[in-house]
Amino acid sequence: MVSNPSPGFFVAFEGGEGAGKSTQVRLLAKALKTGGREVVTTHEPGDTPVGKRLREILLGHETGDLDPRTEALLYAADRAEHVASVVQPALDRGAVCITDRYIDSSIAYQGAGRTLDPADIGRISEWATGGLLPDLTVVLDVDPAVGLTRFSSPADRLEAEPLAFHQRVREHFLALSRGNPRRYLVLDATEPVDDVSATVLAAVESRLT
Ligand code: TYD
Repeated sequence: MVSNPSPGFFVAFEGGEGAGKSTQVRLLAKALKTGGREVVTTHEPGDTPVGKRLREILLGHETGDLDPRTEALLYAADRAEHVASVVQPALDRGAVCITDRYIDSSIAYQGAGRTLDPADIGRISEWATGGLLPDLTVVLDVDPAVGLTRFSSPADRLEAEPLAFHQRVREHFLALSRGNPRRYLVLDATEPVDDVSATVLAAVESRLT
């Protein structure tokens, strides 16, 4: 995989259900904008017109069972469109692009969760994205027994998977981050929101300067 050769800076938030990623994306964006940076916030799946349709298929209960390989390819298709039309243009302009989920979600959910080969899933996403990797991936870690209780809306297709699925996902996020402190920041998502966001901001700023 290549990293990010563009002038912009690419941050991905990853983690299981109920980890508070969207709050942290918002707080990081706000702080960086206050500091005068151009910031683009985005998410997977579904932040492009085609992606919205793929999201309905991927997360809607009316889809029913999907072959795991089909599911993996649909997430990769969403990602290809997302990188081509949102992420790469932002990075080319020199913006900070913050995404709520990226490649590691596929490796953890479709690889460890669905028990496909995580290496295969990584290769599919590598092809889909032209090898674009985040400069920093923030993993918000939470025990799924806690995270799964944090929903306000009904569980979607993935959220409705059993606890053991979500435990495999969690372990895999942690495994991916192990031994790579430059690219990964793992934080306890049960810590106070403001403490987590301050740590994330410091990590981003130290890499931006
Ligand atoms: P979403 O409603 O966007 O919320 P959140 O990120 O807060 O959980 O749900 C996206 C779901 O899709 C989530 O259950 C994780 C799953 N997912 C995958 O299984 N593979 C992927 O590659 C991505 C990006 C998401």
